[in-house]
Amino acid sequence: MRPPVAELHVHLEGTLEPAFIIETAGKHGIGLPWRSLEHLEAQYEFSDLQSFLDLLYVNLEVLRDEEDFEAVTRRYLVRASAAGVRHAEIFFDVQAHTRRGIPAETVIRGIRRALDRSVADHGISTKLIMSFWRDLPAADAMDALAHVLDAGLPIDGIGLDSAEVGYPPSLFVDVYRTARDAGLHVVAHAGEEGPAEYVWEALDLLHVERVDHGIRSLEDPELVERLVRDRVPLTVCPLSNVRLRTVDTMAEHPLPRMLELGLLVSLNSDDPAYFGGYLDANVDAVVAEFGLDAGTVEQLARNSVDSAFLDSSERARLH
Ligand code: ADE
Ligand code: ZN
Repeated sequence: MRPPVAELHVHLEGTLEPAFIIETAGKHGIGLPWRSLEHLEAQYEFSDLQSFLDLLYVNLEVLRDEEDFEAVTRRYLVRASAAGVRHAEIFFDVQAHTRRGIPAETVIRGIRRALDRSVADHGISTKLIMSFWRDLPAADAMDALAHVLDAGLPIDGIGLDSAEVGYPPSLFVDVYRTARDAGLHVVAHAGEEGPAEYVWEALDLLHVERVDHGIRSLEDPELVERLVRDRVPLTVCPLSNVRLRTVDTMAEHPLPRMLELGLLVSLNSDDPAYFGGYLDANVDAVVAEFGLDAGTVEQLARNSVDSAFLDSSERARLH
């Protein structure tokens, strides 16, 4: 039996399974670069973050209408429910769609159709986090945020993702201030491929409530001390880290050291359709590699619930 768990780091666009990509391309008559399902499946070999993003950003172009966004969200929820997920905080990359002429309204309304039925249909409560591409100008992110706020579109928070190195959190101070002032939750990817310095910036300049990945924090003992002291949640994605070669092998993954150091670590799938599995596969991979006992698996699940944007009664329901 898997303990109830929250998934806090999953990109909706990273849940498009190859068969869904081919099927949805057919629905819209979109010519993808892939000749067949097998040709697409042969592309899932990555040398780093960028090589993965290149494939992700081609494939997500099949998402065109509200039904597509609803369908992909629903499919994720079905799969997550089977993995034991009882609460999910889901990212979507707004500029991945608006830059192709798909309005934020279409994206958010489609996703919400699935989320609004998620407790009843899948037993999963949800939050929706709009993520910005950090390798686009901050002014672009600000425009997208202003539009969503002006239109009153229902999101719960903002995040920051895409190519990390060379795009420090400090570029997004104004965007994050605006989001916080609007009452949104704030998180950011930091310390995935980028240095520990970016984690400091995310904390001190963006005032993030959670750090996504954060594994390179271990290179800076003072930063570790700060993260432990303030119980800053880190959403760790083991299969992603291995597939994107952020760590060479699972055996070298810093998860055990992070736990020993007392960091508030949870396990997450990041882009499950690309990295070999959903949350359950990530748990199984670290259990198999490190021989984690049931108590540690329960601790990781408890950490995920403690790291979620839930009030105390919702938290109690999951503990
Ligand atoms: N977008 C989707 N997955 C990502 C990751 N692991 N890092 C940065 N951007 C992403
Ligand atoms: Zn991510």
